[in-house]
Amino acid sequence: MSTPLISVQDLNVEIKTNRGLLKAVRGVSFDIDAGDSIGIVGESGSGKSITLKAILGLLPNNARVSSGKIFIDGKDISSLDKRARRGLLCDTAGMIFQDAIAALNPVISVGDQIAEVPRFRLGQSKSEARQSALSLMEQVGISDAESRFSLYPHQLSGGLRQRIAIAIALSGKPKILFCDEPTTALDVTIQAQVLRLLLELRKNSGLGIVFVTHDLAVTNEICDSIKVMYAGRFVEAGGVRATFNSPTHPYTYSLLKAAPDPDEAVHRLFFITGEAPNLTAPVIGCPFAPRCFAVEADCLGAEPPLLKIGQSSSACFKSENHNTWAASDSKSGGK
Ligand SMILES: Nc1ncnc2c1ncn2[C@@H]1O[C@H](COP(=O)(O)OP(=O)(O)OP(=O)(O)O)[C@@H](O)[C@H]1O
Ligand SMILES: [Mg+2]
Repeated sequence: MSTPLISVQDLNVEIKTNRGLLKAVRGVSFDIDAGDSIGIVGESGSGKSITLKAILGLLPNNARVSSGKIFIDGKDISSLDKRARRGLLCDTAGMIFQDAIAALNPVISVGDQIAEVPRFRLGQSKSEARQSALSLMEQVGISDAESRFSLYPHQLSGGLRQRIAIAIALSGKPKILFCDEPTTALDVTIQAQVLRLLLELRKNSGLGIVFVTHDLAVTNEICDSIKVMYAGRFVEAGGVRATFNSPTHPYTYSLLKAAPDPDEAVHRLFFITGEAPNLTAPVIGCPFAPRCFAVEADCLGAEPPLLKIGQSSSACFKSENHNTWAASDSKSGGK
């Protein structure tokens, strides 16, 4: 078997908080291969961004990888110094975050910002880097790139600035683009345009994508596989189609019910009652049990491991019963 581009093995991340040590990521494992398109979904606070930040070496100062390994191109990144690690990451991954637009430098022209990595990391001459930036601007659908090259971020619309941010993310020729809620700050029309652009990049250049979102509909559009995160762990993993059609974890089932159906004229708004557990305290039993419609006494003893069920994986002792859940979920609530 070939080496995955990125391999995350039993990743645990702890964060020092006022309330104590928070176990924000608990035993997350997954591989990312070239061309993969993986969606990571889950409620606010489930650990999605911290997982990405751990992989990208961008954890806040109060957080640390307490155990587990991250391999990039087969190399254990903990064995590399900061410089080597940055270099390896830059060759492999680009990133675009929710506040990507805010991260643009207001006093440097957008063209020069895109040209920076080609010029200073890829070693191109000034005019080559300019050409690279212009072609990246075209690649992300910015028309009239020549005349827009010297504009400053505030002279462009929100949608164009987001495209500039994507062009910068692509400027190091990454194999994988990590996207953390890249469209939530945009209006619906521009969101759709950005998603279309990401889909095209996937199709035309085989770019791999890891897409973090609250929005299940988005993963349905651009991802092949999905990881559902709850209380710092993956509780379900599988192909997008299979997961949408036949979820094997009650949390996924409830999330899917909570998602407004864009095809319905009147959105039925379901909600998942209760709150995720406090991860500064030890987890006893299944962390979803207090909110689960399928809970039984044995769910309260040990935390269920993520195990294969059919083509998917599920961290639920009751996953064998998933075909019957539609009839027995009255406890999941509705309004
Ligand atoms: N800098 C920080 N200091 C303290 N706690 C933090 C910090 N960053 C994240 N956390 C906590 O770590 C947990 C996981 O946070 P994370 O940002 O990964 O959630 P998320 O799944 O990305 O949520 P969202 O969907 O809201 O972005 C949460 O409990 C959060 O409050
Ligand atoms: Mg987040």
